[in-house]
Amino acid sequence: MESDVADIELARTGTGRIEWADRDMPVLAAVRERFEKEKPLEGKVLAACLHVTAETANLARTLKAAGASVFLCASNPLSTQDDVAAALVKEYGIPVFARKGEDRETFFAHVRAVLDAKPVLTMDDGADLVSTIHQERTDLLDDGMLGGTEETTTGVVRLRAMAKDGALKMPIVSVNDAKTKNMFDNRYGTGQSTLEGIIRATDVLLAGKVFVVAGYGWCGRGLAMRARGMGASVIVTEIDAVKALEAAMDGFSVMPMEKAAAVGDVFCTVTGNKDVIRAAHFERMKDGAMVCNAGHFDVEISLPELRAMAEGEPVRVRPFVDEYRIRTPAHTQVSAGMHKRVYVLAEGRLVNLAAAEGHPASVMDMSFSTQALACEWLALCAAEGKMLAPAVYEVSEEIERQVAEAKLGSMGVAIDELTPEQEKYMASWQEGT
Ligand code: NAI
Repeated sequence: MESDVADIELARTGTGRIEWADRDMPVLAAVRERFEKEKPLEGKVLAACLHVTAETANLARTLKAAGASVFLCASNPLSTQDDVAAALVKEYGIPVFARKGEDRETFFAHVRAVLDAKPVLTMDDGADLVSTIHQERTDLLDDGMLGGTEETTTGVVRLRAMAKDGALKMPIVSVNDAKTKNMFDNRYGTGQSTLEGIIRATDVLLAGKVFVVAGYGWCGRGLAMRARGMGASVIVTEIDAVKALEAAMDGFSVMPMEKAAAVGDVFCTVTGNKDVIRAAHFERMKDGAMVCNAGHFDVEISLPELRAMAEGEPVRVRPFVDEYRIRTPAHTQVSAGMHKRVYVLAEGRLVNLAAAEGHPASVMDMSFSTQALACEWLALCAAEGKMLAPAVYEVSEEIERQVAEAKLGSMGVAIDELTPEQEKYMASWQEGT
């Protein structure tokens, strides 16, 4: 199979979208220009499993410009932009295997399809390629595999668990852990685009609402900050004492989910954990509560428990909004005998990608430049005969500095430089003590 996209005739719209995003990705464009001349990935087959968005398309173009043969599939069944997928195939000659709304079987068939291209480099967002390679395609590990990169927190957590068990058999660069990624993409990207997904799906007015954020990591911080900016009263739930303390000192209410459940109007999970909102919480919710997730997998909201509590099948009341009707427990606001309604957005999947367009291009500019440079580093290590042991590697400080400087430059922001005296002072211990 050469490609599998929903409708190739959408290519024209997709190209417009890709070019629009490119305007806001100057750092990646500069990397692409250099790659075009230097061809650091010449002759390499690269499989990427990423959200198929306009920004990803510009990353794929960059990798192709570097000389790689790029094969792309989706890292989530609901995150594909079908017009972008079509444009990549038709206008840019990049094979894509992704359709928005694909079922589980097709999703994995697409993962397998890109692995059939026999990649020596992988690029994951959630470790699907790497885990499929280790479970089904171990032949690829012996066939010149140079390594891979990982885009998201949940993927890195899984890869570290594999490394700890001695199960990881290839080097991986943890792009997610680069400061040029999580401080910006997870915080500002997820913060803004998650609210956008919720608003597009529901048209809810956030001012005056009680907005519950589960998890105060990089994504949760951004989401809480932006929800407050829209006028909501924000409650944070956490399991980590330090993060909870940070949230409290940032001025948010902090309480257990069981308590927050009774007062929240809109709930969003961003923990990377499972069953964060479950039966005990649904039971306490108000009539009309909206529940969604921006964490990587669709396990943060326990939909099986909600289904079991609900009467009948959920009803799709708007695109990306399912209404579950639950017999109202006595302590909620709705009068006895009535049903309580709980609305689940985007089937509990990443609401910012399913119901909106994912992160804005400007922030993906940094994440994807870091991705491209990390890939170049893997190829360079191999070219120099440096054998990387199977492990999870950090992005080098040099790459982080390059990306940050280029981004600042593109924003027209200049910073100070150390004077020779300051440099000496910072490296000394005798002076001033
Ligand atoms: P993080 O590790 O910085 O933060 C997660 C937080 O959740 C931690 O503070 C942890 O203590 C907390 N937590 C864990 N279990 C919890 C529970 N049961 N209740 C309340 N809090 C709990 O991770 P980060 O970077 O914020 O990512 C969170 C998730 O979002 C991951 O799954 C990641 O892959 C995903 N992600 C999604 C993006 C999107 O576009 N929607 C973009 C970037 C990351």
